[in-house]
Amino acid sequence: MNDRNLALEAIRITEAAALASARLMGRGDRKAADHVAVEAMRRAFDAIDMRGTVVIGEGERDEAPMLFIGERVGAGWATNDEGSPKVDIAVDPLEGTNLCATGEPDAIAVIALADDGQFLNAPDTYMEKIAVGPECKGVIDLRESPTWNLQRIAKAKGKRVEDVTAIILERPRHADLIGEVRQCGARIRLIGDGDVSAAVMTCKEESGIDVLFGIGGAPEGVIAAAAMRCVGGELQGRLKFRHDEERARAVKMGVKPEDYVYSTEDLASGNVMFAATGVTQGYLLDGVHFFGGGARTESIVMRSKSGTVRVIKSTHHFDTKPNYSWATGLDD
Ligand code: FBP
Repeated sequence: MNDRNLALEAIRITEAAALASARLMGRGDRKAADHVAVEAMRRAFDAIDMRGTVVIGEGERDEAPMLFIGERVGAGWATNDEGSPKVDIAVDPLEGTNLCATGEPDAIAVIALADDGQFLNAPDTYMEKIAVGPECKGVIDLRESPTWNLQRIAKAKGKRVEDVTAIILERPRHADLIGEVRQCGARIRLIGDGDVSAAVMTCKEESGIDVLFGIGGAPEGVIAAAAMRCVGGELQGRLKFRHDEERARAVKMGVKPEDYVYSTEDLASGNVMFAATGVTQGYLLDGVHFFGGGARTESIVMRSKSGTVRVIKSTHHFDTKPNYSWATGLDD
């Protein structure tokens, strides 16, 4: 299979995870929503002709039963057919588990694939990030202050700083950052979770978001970087360890010095693909809409090689797709 087809196949994987977790929207059980997404995604891989290796997943082998780091997924392994593409895979079956548990916007199911590329083997720690869309590629610098960056972003977009909108995870650790952005006069959208969607929004004009600032998960930084590679945006990241144990584990994994600023290419290099399906209704993607006997989904898929971005709306009929019963909870 060529990588064009593979990118389209990837949508089936994120659709399955989104359909499964959307069933549990608002139940207040983030773990259950994540669990069904992981299961659905894991099973969907079995139907795809690829030889995939999970490089960013649900955790180490001893802490995650499925989609653990190093797990081989895809139908291609059974035959080991040379025609079946070998890809590195970064997954987040439910990005924004709390968003799904409470029904807030922008929970998504997401995967990134690298066929002759590579993802940073990101340790499970935090990453300080700045992300912008294509118009601001090359004008940002994580080493500089938010004020400096906001001024450069405003200039690149031909607008005033007061018209720039930043998206920031609402966390106590961001008090100073939020204070500084407010001091500059820029607008802010505070979000409860989901900085992958937030990063990708900077590349979607209609979202009204110009820049993502703040500290979130490092694995999420790699996945978002894959998306930025496809659309010509930019994400810079610097690892932020919570404690010495995390630091020691990361050093063992061979990470760069602590003050190193990873470029978008450092995080996701070569030929990469990104696919995501909306779970809850969002600013980036529509969520899953159920109707009698089926559901509609909206997904985005893109490839760095071509830069093509496809938004795909799918209608799923569960009666004609018995295979989807596991993804929808309708088999119980
Ligand atoms: P989950 O999907 O694992 O719940 O992560 C959501 C998220 O908001 C990410 O988007 C973000 O990178 C990270 O959590 C931030 O971590 P924390 O909640 O510890 O601040």
